[in-house]
Amino acid sequence: MLDLDEKTITEAVLRTMAQTADERIRTVLGSMVRHLHEFVREVAPTEAEWAGAIDFLTRTGQKCDDRRQEFILLSDVLGVTMLVDAVNYRRGSGVTENSVQGPFYRQERPEFADGADISNGVPGTPLLLRAVVVDTAGAPIAGAEFDVWHADGEGRYDTEISGLDDAAMRGLFRTGRDGTVSVRSIAPAAYPIPDDGPVGELMRTTGRPVMRPGHIHVRIAAPGFSTVTTMLFRDDDPHLGSDPVFGSRRSLLYPRDVHDDGQGPFDLVERTFVLDREH
Ligand code: BEZ
Ligand code: FE
Repeated sequence: MLDLDEKTITEAVLRTMAQTADERIRTVLGSMVRHLHEFVREVAPTEAEWAGAIDFLTRTGQKCDDRRQEFILLSDVLGVTMLVDAVNYRRGSGVTENSVQGPFYRQERPEFADGADISNGVPGTPLLLRAVVVDTAGAPIAGAEFDVWHADGEGRYDTEISGLDDAAMRGLFRTGRDGTVSVRSIAPAAYPIPDDGPVGELMRTTGRPVMRPGHIHVRIAAPGFSTVTTMLFRDDDPHLGSDPVFGSRRSLLYPRDVHDDGQGPFDLVERTFVLDREH
C-alpha cells in the first residue's frame, strides 16, 4: 500500500528510480521529478490547465517534421538553448561565443571556393565577409569547415522565397592555409521567428515581440577543436535588445562599414573567430 499525499509522493517516485544503474541518468531524472513536483505544488494547476499544458506540448510535437523543429524553437524562446550553452561554455576565455543554431541550417548545402558569391542572384546590398579562424594562441586553423547561412534583405531564407529552386545565401567553405576565408553575399535583415505554431501562440499570449535582429549564421568545425555555432549581428539593429531567442551578444556585433572597390558599394564584415581545443 502506498497511500501517498502531496508531500510524500515526491520521495516515493524518487525511490522507484533509485536503482537506475547510470548515475547521470539517476541524477537528471531525480532532479527533474523534484523540480516538476515543486512546480505543481507551487502553481497548483487545475485539471483543465494541466490538460491544456499537455495539449500544448502535444501540438508542439505534432508541428515537428524534418523541416520544422517546434521543440527546439520552444527551448529557444524560453531561454533554455542559450542557458545550456552558458553552463557549458564559460565566458571571457577569448573563444568565440556561441549562439543558437536556429531552424534554417541545412546539411545539404552547396560547397564553394574561397571568395565565392553565395547570393545566387537574390537581390540585395552586396556584402563581403572576411574571416580568419585561429586557435586560442592566435595560430591559424587551416582547412576548417566554414558554414554560412542567412536571410535576404527582406528577412527571408532561401527556403521561404517562392520560385527559388536552388540554395541561396548558404554554403560551405574551407579556410586556407592562413586560416582565412572570404564569402560574398548580400546583407541580411531582421525577420520573425516561425510563429504559426504553438510557440507563436505563446509569444502572442505573453505579448512578446517575434522579430530577430538581422544576422549572419556561421558554424565552424575543425578536427581537434570544439565546433562553434554562432552568428554576427549588425550593431545598429533595433531588435538587438529584444531578440526572442536571447541569442544576441555584444561580442558578436559588427559595425556598418561601407566600402567601394570600383564596382559599387558593399558592406564589409571582418571577423576573427577563435576556436578552443576539444576537451
Ligand atoms: C534563426 O536565427 O534562424 C532562428 C533561431 C532561433 C529560432 C528561430 C530562428
Ligand atoms: Fe537566422
